[in-house]
Amino acid sequence: MAVEEIYPAEALKGKRVVPGDKSISHRAVMFGSLAEGKTTVQGFLPGEDCLSTIDIFRKLGVSIEQNEDTVTIESRGTRGLQEPAEILDVGNSGTTARLVAGILAGCPFHSVLTGDASIARRPMTRVTDPLTKMGASIRGRKNCKYTPLSIQGQHTVGIHWISEIASAQVKSSILLCGLQSEGVTEVTEPFRSRDHTERMLEAFGVRLYRDENSVSLKGGQSLSARHVNVPGDISSAAFFLAAAAMLQGSEVTLENVGINPTRTGILDVLTAMEADFEIINERTDCGEPAADIVIRGSELQGTTIDGALIPRLIDEIPVLAVLATQANGRTVIQDAEELKVKETNRIDTVVQELKKFGASIEATKDGMIIDGPTPLTGADTKTYGDHRIGMAMAVASLAADGPSRIHESEAAAVSYPLFFEDLTSLRTDS
Ligand code: S3P
Repeated sequence: MAVEEIYPAEALKGKRVVPGDKSISHRAVMFGSLAEGKTTVQGFLPGEDCLSTIDIFRKLGVSIEQNEDTVTIESRGTRGLQEPAEILDVGNSGTTARLVAGILAGCPFHSVLTGDASIARRPMTRVTDPLTKMGASIRGRKNCKYTPLSIQGQHTVGIHWISEIASAQVKSSILLCGLQSEGVTEVTEPFRSRDHTERMLEAFGVRLYRDENSVSLKGGQSLSARHVNVPGDISSAAFFLAAAAMLQGSEVTLENVGINPTRTGILDVLTAMEADFEIINERTDCGEPAADIVIRGSELQGTTIDGALIPRLIDEIPVLAVLATQANGRTVIQDAEELKVKETNRIDTVVQELKKFGASIEATKDGMIIDGPTPLTGADTKTYGDHRIGMAMAVASLAADGPSRIHESEAAAVSYPLFFEDLTSLRTDS
């Protein structure tokens, strides 16, 4: 298990291109595997989660070459997918487990999906219930609540699913099953979750109908292979956005960051906290907007993060909690119960680990309350295998009064293999 030692930082300065968006990278591999012909991907995230997705589609008979951030996929389309001779391992990736379950539900063969210890604790009923209602034949531990899932693909029919949670993984799983189903499939959510599936399916030639928090498609449509440029991941940029915002004298430019409005809740929060940042060089590629973000250190104010904002920044909450420790006044995060079923229970891990730094933070039933500004003290902290906890605690370490250690720091490789190197390169004292 790796340990990363982090010293306090004066400021961060410089430019960085953050690695490719994790959600978009997964979908590029999946949709390229469903499309007949050759799909090429540039800017792919070579993190462990997305490599699990590649591994699974190779086991399903798709020819995929990957070199750093370039991927070439040659597929015979959905009908070319073959029964895998081995168990399909999603590793730590909830996105892979849930989206691939939706794809396999309608493929005429048997397959088994499993993952690591964290995946084995994450709820799968949220996808197995709607997929079963569509006619899928799925068995799993504790009545399909948990992996491993055994899927016997068969004829499925479209449904209108009204989801209790705003989850892009649930929405995408149902839509992907709907693509191979008879009739129309529709998903309605309480708030709009990230819409990369919708944008990329459209770019691959699928017709979708969208209306506020609902999306529908007709089954039987095929995907057309194409080139995909993946923008940088705003969830990875978030660590530098937070670090630069709270360290006075910082000025960091993050280049080519995806700014899809379903993902930019963090920018709304930075505005509410009175952070000093600007968005420049906006462009759109493959239906996904991207831009450069310039951020400078400034005095910050506490804020409230809740409601429809939550799905737009769900993965950024650990680092926003760190930021709140350095803001004036109280920050309240609520309506975020989904944090409990991420790679770790992120309400508990964030509160427990930030307390080690001396933060004034308390867990609530659906979020946390943070009072600031608090001087942080160097701490011995642990990721519990959760990449975003490790990177968020690295940001807290920068604002502490002495060295900190991040135990099990290898977890960062799930979404950002070179995170600690990039962080060092932006330090003014490196
Ligand atoms: C993801 C959706 C989010 C997010 C996860 C990636 C996706 O999960 O937390 O990191 O790629 O669809 P939910 O939409 O299930 O909350």
